Amino acid sequence: MLKQNETPYVFHVFICTNDRGGKRKSCTDNNSQLIKSKLKGTINEKGWKGKVRISTSGCMGVCAKGSNVMIYPQKIWLFEVFPDDVDEIVSIIERVMTDE
Ligand code: FES
Repeated sequence: MLKQNETPYVFHVFICTNDRGGKRKSCTDNNSQLIKSKLKGTINEKGWKGKVRISTSGCMGVCAKGSNVMIYPQKIWLFEVFPDDVDEIVSIIERVMTDE
């Protein structure tokens, strides 16, 4: 039987890494694997591990806007993201963290 609990993370960041192999636009077209690894590295450097969880996800249904990054439970949807945008993502998380 399933069990339920409150998530241990303040932020859960999902990065779509779905790859359609060039047949249709997908989030890997913008190198979402690199977005994930850069973001994970920065989160660790900032000491946010345990507070901010970085996870890959499958398709989130908004492929044409990729790469897509969604942050929960704050319901933040970042789209058309590239690896160079990682610092901005971190700033957004930091801003929300300060506001909460
Ligand atoms: S491929 Fe990323 S949202 Fe569909």
